[in-house]
Amino acid sequence: MADKLIIFDTTLRDGEQSPGASMTKEEKLRIAKQLEKLRVDVIEAGFAASSNGDFEAVRAIADAITESTVCSLARANDRDIARAAEALKGAKSARIHTFIATSALHMEKKLRMTPEQVHEQIRQAVRYARNFTDNVEFSPEDGSRSDMDFLCRVLETAIDEGARTINIADTVGYGVPELFGNLVLTLRNRIPNSDKAVWSVHCHNDLGMAVANSLAGVMIGGARQVECTVNGLGERAGNTSLEEVVMAVRTRRDYFDLEVGVDTTQIVPASKLVSSITGFPVQPNKAVVGANAFAHASGIHQDGVLKNRDTYEIMRAEDVGWSANKIVLGKLSGRNAFKQRLKELGIELESEQEVNEAFQRFKDLADRKAEIFDEDIHALVSEQAAHHEA
Ligand code: KIV
Ligand code: ZN
Repeated sequence: MADKLIIFDTTLRDGEQSPGASMTKEEKLRIAKQLEKLRVDVIEAGFAASSNGDFEAVRAIADAITESTVCSLARANDRDIARAAEALKGAKSARIHTFIATSALHMEKKLRMTPEQVHEQIRQAVRYARNFTDNVEFSPEDGSRSDMDFLCRVLETAIDEGARTINIADTVGYGVPELFGNLVLTLRNRIPNSDKAVWSVHCHNDLGMAVANSLAGVMIGGARQVECTVNGLGERAGNTSLEEVVMAVRTRRDYFDLEVGVDTTQIVPASKLVSSITGFPVQPNKAVVGANAFAHASGIHQDGVLKNRDTYEIMRAEDVGWSANKIVLGKLSGRNAFKQRLKELGIELESEQEVNEAFQRFKDLADRKAEIFDEDIHALVSEQAAHHEA
């Protein structure tokens, strides 16, 4: 049987860290309900200790959501962890996600702690979190730039103390797929108790490789959880995009051989909701959820798709929640696409000669206008009829 790939959505936590993307409690709750409909496995609802507003949002989501595990982020200290546990009290299934930086750079320059102090803090934090739940995740922040020997030592400790998910963070999007995948693999091979934890990846998109790095973490490294956000929202250039990972795994099941529990028909509604609440538009050519992701503009492509959709479509628009694929009529469109649109609009022309004439009018118009809408077609057909009557 195929392994399951756990989809951990962090739109409400890391996604909200996008400058300008902050959300109210009510907005977060609406998104959380949509994420539940999408059937993600884990919803990271926020960072309870970061503000009272975040605490309340995590609490409201924990109380409302029943189908997904609800998670709160917490720094590796007792206060943060207790606050996360308090906010998660009402959850049917709760997870505490604790983290601390492990790279030499972050430990020395940011935390001003020695590696030994960080190691000890990880031990204490995971142990403390386990008092509240057996579902504890630990992340070494800046993991991809951390010393391998040190990482092995601290992650072994985290697992010994009861962390059940180990999440390797490529915090600054520095990873390269093969290297990042091998990093996860080496950790899993070298850490003696590694099989007691689910391995997870959390990649940022600074070099545009978050999805590729995450999938390498899965395929090379053996990770079975991917942390991601709707529309790839997140700090700086964003996080791994949920829709891209899910549809890659689904579409290339032949290669990945993994199960994802997501209801893909809820992807586009989730994308639109996140975009409208945050005010972050989705670029038209964004994979899966961009307005053009299923639009065919060139005549050759339109003709192919009208004859057989598989010619230029590797996924179905309906499967990700679009109403259908979109044939965009413009100057590159062919006669076949034009005839198909006439049919869809219920326009029946008397003869092939009339179709040819209408097509010529359409082409003339398309030379002047980038996209031809249904109203334009109605207008040009009426014009043609009026011309004949005159
Ligand atoms: O990018 C990062 O390192 C994080 C951690 C908290 C997992 O978001
Ligand atoms: Zn992050």
